[in-house]
Amino acid sequence: MSTPISIPGKHNLAVSISPTTTTIHDRFQTRKTGAVGPRTLHSVDNGDFRLLLLENISMEAVNAFRERGFHVDHHAKAMSEDELCEKIPHYHGIGIRSKTRITEKVIRAATKLVVIGCFCIGTNQVDLSASARAGIPVFNSPFSNSRSVAELVMSELVALSRQLFERSYELRQGIWNKQSKGCWEIRGKTLGIVGYGHIGSQLSVLAEAFGLRVLFYDVVNIMPLGSARQVESLSALLRESDFVTLHVPELPETMNMMSTDQFAEMKSGSYLINNARGTVVDIPALVEALKSKHLAGAAIDVFPAEPGSNGAPFDDQLNPWASELRALPNVILTPHIGGSTEEAQRMIGEEVSSALSRYLGFGTTLGAVNFPEVDLRAITTEQSNSIRVCHVHKNQPGVLKLVNEALSPYNVEKQYSDSKGDIAYLMADIADVSLNDVKRLRETIDRTEANILTRFLA
Ligand SMILES: NC(=O)c1ccc[n+]([C@@H]2O[C@H](COP(=O)([O-])OP(=O)(O)OC[C@H]3O[C@@H](n4cnc5c(N)ncnc54)[C@H](O)[C@@H]3O)[C@@H](O)[C@H]2O)c1
Repeated sequence: MSTPISIPGKHNLAVSISPTTTTIHDRFQTRKTGAVGPRTLHSVDNGDFRLLLLENISMEAVNAFRERGFHVDHHAKAMSEDELCEKIPHYHGIGIRSKTRITEKVIRAATKLVVIGCFCIGTNQVDLSASARAGIPVFNSPFSNSRSVAELVMSELVALSRQLFERSYELRQGIWNKQSKGCWEIRGKTLGIVGYGHIGSQLSVLAEAFGLRVLFYDVVNIMPLGSARQVESLSALLRESDFVTLHVPELPETMNMMSTDQFAEMKSGSYLINNARGTVVDIPALVEALKSKHLAGAAIDVFPAEPGSNGAPFDDQLNPWASELRALPNVILTPHIGGSTEEAQRMIGEEVSSALSRYLGFGTTLGAVNFPEVDLRAITTEQSNSIRVCHVHKNQPGVLKLVNEALSPYNVEKQYSDSKGDIAYLMADIADVSLNDVKRLRETIDRTEANILTRFLA
């Protein structure tokens, strides 16, 4: 993983050390001589690189960008479409959270924009295909809150098992109700994790430290961590687990994956936890399983329909079963807070700002949600006359032939290209090029019919 660094100087743009793709040989070479390292690159296209950060994006991110020499305008609030259309033509990059909508109209107005950072998990607020068509990759931070979710699940295991919310609620009503019946330690019980990805696997480690036995079910074969064991089917997991916790993505195949039949397969007196997505659980079926006391409790953080803002009602108009679910004992209901921690926010700031810096400084699109993911080994400090061409183009036949003709007078040290839908992206490092050559190359490539956006980093 690369670490961005800053180089003082007003016009230094997009400065960071290169990221991921050094070979073992490169790393050995660097260590041995101490002289060969990744060269910092600067965009030859933009003068003063201007970045617009909205919705109170963390000051750590703001300061990191400023240290890298970017001009940053930082606003606490979101902007409307009209406001954005007025402001966006002055900026090369924009950072938003979930409230700012980047529509096709905004993209059309964004004549200088080269990158969008969503400092959050989702990217629904951005017109991803309009951005891709304009040659603008969109980066987000989908996994920075995995630990926060895993920790919430750990707390829910204990809270459900000890009927903590019931006892606390009663005492708040002035009722003393000390009891041990139906309250259990979680040590020695079996936790069934459905979906062993970023969150599920973190949880597996935490749960074993607590003395739980861990089973998991996933559609792909995954090396278990610790003493966890992968089972062959969801049914096998449901039949053996005292707690079932869901960590799968929202997909057609995961829609209502927990419904009447699956609840019937769960052990009597077991618990269900859903911090994944609201559509994964058939909630009326869950209500029935809880009412019949087949399940001893549930913790639900995500719902098929969720209120758009804090303070908005969570009622039967939103979800027809809401009041029934709210009335059930030993059910923990939380407003989609699984990933909502200060640490996750900070991680999001770091992750998205470094993705933007890597794209601006090195052209790498690893992690972009709407773009082919392309990266190249770094240009080293020894290669002082090499430049990097980052060419976003329409995915159509004949483009590479034309571009390689343009590059053919030079030594192409390395190149890589990939496509996603209508968009293709080529990165190429060429040696012994002067700034005049760059000017000529730019004119040639800009004239090609498929060109969308081409940047030169030197
Ligand atoms: N509550 C919150 O605030 C919150 C926060 C972050 C993530 N999430 C949600 O948590 C879920 C998991 O996130 P993650 O980061 O661990 O995702 P991930 O992509 O890292 O892992 C998902 C895992 O589920 C597996 N999977 C996919 N389909 C499956 C199926 N039909 N059956 C079994 N396994 C299947 C995948 O192979 C993968 O290993 C996602 O739905 C995400 O949206 C919720």
